[in-house]
Amino acid sequence: MHGKAPQTDRPLRSKAWFDNPANIDMTALYIERYLNFGLSQEELQSGRPIIGIAQTGSDLSPCNRHHIELAKRTREGIREAGGIAIEFPVHPIQETGKRPTAGLDRNLAYLGLVETLYGYPLDGVVLTIGCDKTTPALLMAAATVNIPAIALSVGPMLNGWYKGERTGSGTIVWKARELLAKGEIDYPGFVKLVASSAPSTGYCNTMGTATTMNSLAEALGMQLPGSAAIPAPYRDRQEIAYRTGLRIVDMVREDLKPSDILTRDAFLNAIRVNSAIGGSTNAPVHLNALARHVGVELSIDDWQTYGEEVPLLVNLQPAGEYLGEDYYHAGGVPAVVSQLIEQGLIAEGAMTANGRTLGENCRDTPIADEAVIRPYATPLKEKAGFRVLRGNLFSSAIMKTSVISPEFRDRYLSNPADPEAFEGRAVVFDGPEDYHARIDDPALAIDETTILFMRGAGPVGYPGAAEVVNMRAPDYLIKAGVSALPCIGDGRQSGTSGSPSILNASPEAAVGGGLALLRTGDRVRIDLKRNSADMLVPEEELAARRAALAAAGGYAYPESQTPWQEIQRALVGQLETGAVLEPAVRYQRIAQT
Ligand code: FES
Ligand code: MG
Repeated sequence: MHGKAPQTDRPLRSKAWFDNPANIDMTALYIERYLNFGLSQEELQSGRPIIGIAQTGSDLSPCNRHHIELAKRTREGIREAGGIAIEFPVHPIQETGKRPTAGLDRNLAYLGLVETLYGYPLDGVVLTIGCDKTTPALLMAAATVNIPAIALSVGPMLNGWYKGERTGSGTIVWKARELLAKGEIDYPGFVKLVASSAPSTGYCNTMGTATTMNSLAEALGMQLPGSAAIPAPYRDRQEIAYRTGLRIVDMVREDLKPSDILTRDAFLNAIRVNSAIGGSTNAPVHLNALARHVGVELSIDDWQTYGEEVPLLVNLQPAGEYLGEDYYHAGGVPAVVSQLIEQGLIAEGAMTANGRTLGENCRDTPIADEAVIRPYATPLKEKAGFRVLRGNLFSSAIMKTSVISPEFRDRYLSNPADPEAFEGRAVVFDGPEDYHARIDDPALAIDETTILFMRGAGPVGYPGAAEVVNMRAPDYLIKAGVSALPCIGDGRQSGTSGSPSILNASPEAAVGGGLALLRTGDRVRIDLKRNSADMLVPEEELAARRAALAAAGGYAYPESQTPWQEIQRALVGQLETGAVLEPAVRYQRIAQT
């Protein structure tokens, strides 16, 4: 098919730059400068689609660095199908390397890419996705501009191994830190164990935010079917890069745009897939942001309404045992979607990047390894989606119930009179630095019924919202056999963490949320039957605390360290609604020819 799709009468967007009879002066200027790396005038004026490759790989972004290689095959596909490839850089976002947090840069990369796609002669774009925030940043920008776009994942790393056992990205860090606390390994052993989880090029091989968002980009229809899970070093990854290049050219000819793919049905499909894969708690933040930029109604409550009942099918760390290579061999996203289709849980008519519907792409895809992807009838866990909790601590926060351990259930959830409610004593930290300085301080009297709170970690308080809500218990408690305490906070948490946390609390303390009023020693009650979370503090006392906080000028947080931190703080919304730059939402589908 490729290369033979009929040329439409619709003029290409790039014609306004390269072949505009009404303005031959500017046309000449545009052409001479794009000629100077060796393209010919005939090529630029031949009516061939100009396809951007939005390159997120660089030396600063090791997770996505392999895209530099893959782009060569993508270019060959674009050329084969009759297009012309133009590769350009995207602001780097390295999840593990960026201070204070990579969350700050999602909206910056978004803004930069919107300007690039809007302002340059591009008819379509290949979005090179991978490391956590690169996926939402690029999809969000493509949604705002709304030129034909297809995502290409860099793929996960190969499985990590240590002494015959799988070691997974991020998840091994939490485990290794426990072993270090117990004195079972020393510091060099700690580093060696952690490094074993990263044996090759690619993104995190666990079901962290990267695997989650790449899977969801496929479930949304923005990638070729079956492509998300292919490990980065596999030959199949090179082939899908080529096929993605072929396909984007025809998408331009068909004028198949993000707004045709990213419908409400597509988002609801993605919510259900997220539950079935055991996806990251960052997914609601990023998908809600994407929905807002493409103009689709999607609320935090939709995550519970459509996602909560769906069971966990994918047996990947941190919720399960396996890693990225296993996920691919078991069938990846199409096998998961196929299981959900059989239950009537997928809107099969949702359009996807290959021009076919999600149902056409995925129906009857067999599971190749039922240890890794379970059939719907025998899941790993029932009800694997998120709960949305509310109360006087926040107007919304989410909880991933599938990671609650049996040990935790015994400790907190076994009161026969009220099996889904638990109470604890709050210990409150103001930001990650405060937590690290004080967690092991015996004066805090943390025991196995303490609830740890992290505040000052939201989009404004810790600009970008830090992944710090999953807090390690004090070393003395770990040694005593209590490995995790419930954590609540207005920040995010790494998708590689298996902590029983209530997070993404909105509004955050820094903008006057209830968390700002909480004090160490307060009793807190979580009731999973009513989906509520409250501090058990009388209303008069809360009013007095509120007045005192206002008199002190509000909840204090650290100064901005860079211009972008200040700009983002002034414009960003809360995690519940995607933490987008609020003024940006007014600009939708802005591409002009
Ligand atoms: Fe980049 Fe996990 S740190 S994918
Ligand atoms: Mg992360």
